[in-house]
Amino acid sequence: MKGVLLAGGTGSRLHPLTLVTNKHLLPVHDRPMIHYPIETLRGMGIREVLVILGGRSIGDIVELLADGRDHGLDLTYRYQRGALGIAHAIGLARDFVGSDPFCVVLGDNILVGEPLEPVARAFAEGPWGGGTLLTRVPDPQRFGVAELDADGRVIGFEEKPAHPKSDSIPIGVYFLRPDAFSVIDRLVPSGRGELEITDLLNHYIANGGLFTRHYDGAWHDAGTIDSLLEASVLVARRSGGPAEPPR
Ligand code: DAU
Repeated sequence: MKGVLLAGGTGSRLHPLTLVTNKHLLPVHDRPMIHYPIETLRGMGIREVLVILGGRSIGDIVELLADGRDHGLDLTYRYQRGALGIAHAIGLARDFVGSDPFCVVLGDNILVGEPLEPVARAFAEGPWGGGTLLTRVPDPQRFGVAELDADGRVIGFEEKPAHPKSDSIPIGVYFLRPDAFSVIDRLVPSGRGELEITDLLNHYIANGGLFTRHYDGAWHDAGTIDSLLEASVLVARRSGGPAEPPR
């Protein structure tokens, strides 16, 4: 399986922190944010990773990660011109992926705990077309949101709905195969001008091939000022650091 790490976008929800640097270089506890998705992919047993770059200071990301050898990875880079959406960024991985299944991790998603190698293997060896990991949050309107049927099966995803149909959300880990690229080619931009990952995932529901697992570890995104602090506190707690967030 190959890996794709998305580190494009503008980081506008983190202004002024991201006015002159890239969101993925900001500290989360004791490390740059991008080290966490790197570790998530490495923990799946993945070695070849494409990093999608965009926004400010992308040279600093390349300087930080270099060829990936220090992380046990073989890294390649590709530039995304404009924050045209997560599905658009995934579309840039077509040549890199070739004929392999692949896992996409968002550069601002912090996962601590559950080893994901068995999950990645289950997807790669199974019949599913594409999928994601789910978790429950108190503020689902900030994320993609899953609609569930009476048996708990996902019957639809909506991106940042005003009235969420559940508190289950897809976190920023997606399992895909090369046929995702022809689906992405047919997506149309949403009202906010982006190719949405939820539209890509909905394709697999419509075709009966969606793979989902509940993520049992601790998860946080770090894309806003508050969630950046909370992500640092989460990691610090897990590593025996400060027990309480500063007030
Ligand atoms: O964190 C999980 C959520 O991530 C999901 O529940 C949502 O369905 C998904 O859309 C996403 O929502 P966000 O609003 O948090 O996405 P954001 O725009 O912050 O982008 C997340 C990462 O993806 C970010 O670290 C940079 C990368 N990205 C984003 C865009 C829009 C790119 O590489 N290129 C892009 O064009």
